[in-house]
Amino acid sequence: MKKITSALAALGLGLALSASVQATSNDEAVVERIKAVGSVCIEGDDSCGGAAAPAAAAGGAARTPEEVYNTKCAACHATGAAGAPKYGTPDWADRGSKGMDTLLSNAINGIGGMPPRGLCMDCSDDDLKGAIQHMLDGSK
Ligand code: HEC
Repeated sequence: MKKITSALAALGLGLALSASVQATSNDEAVVERIKAVGSVCIEGDDSCGGAAAPAAAAGGAARTPEEVYNTKCAACHATGAAGAPKYGTPDWADRGSKGMDTLLSNAINGIGGMPPRGLCMDCSDDDLKGAIQHMLDGSK
């Protein structure tokens, strides 16, 4: 009986040992995985490899008026779709005579075939204003 007990104890110890070895290598694997995800990159650091760009595109960060126009307004205003005043044509000279305040409030609220905010729901009023100015400037 005593023999069996110590054999079992040895077996138990063996299991415990192998379990702890297992745990150790798992820990290392976990650390490796965490390192990969949590590796820090400072903005402007080359190692960031453009990771900052998607964050800017997701909103919040400033966009240039040209970017707003290209991504949000050009769909209609580059082609004149649905009667939209077309970029680079005298269409905009007529509109410009209304003054920026009127153009901006019509862009915010929508007018005729122009949907509210030109469908850019994450555009700030300043984004819209910049894009309008861009279209006015580009159509002189
Ligand atoms: C789905 C098509 C569409 C998109 C996208 C669109 N527009 Fe328009 N927009 C129009 C149409 C159509 C008109 C002409 C409306 C009218 O006068 O009947 C117009 C007119 C305007 C006008 C003139 C309003 C006035 O008072 O005469 C402004 C300013 C304007 N759009 C700004 C923008 C801006 C800024 C964007 C992008 C953020 C944008 N639009 C995106 C279709 C669009």
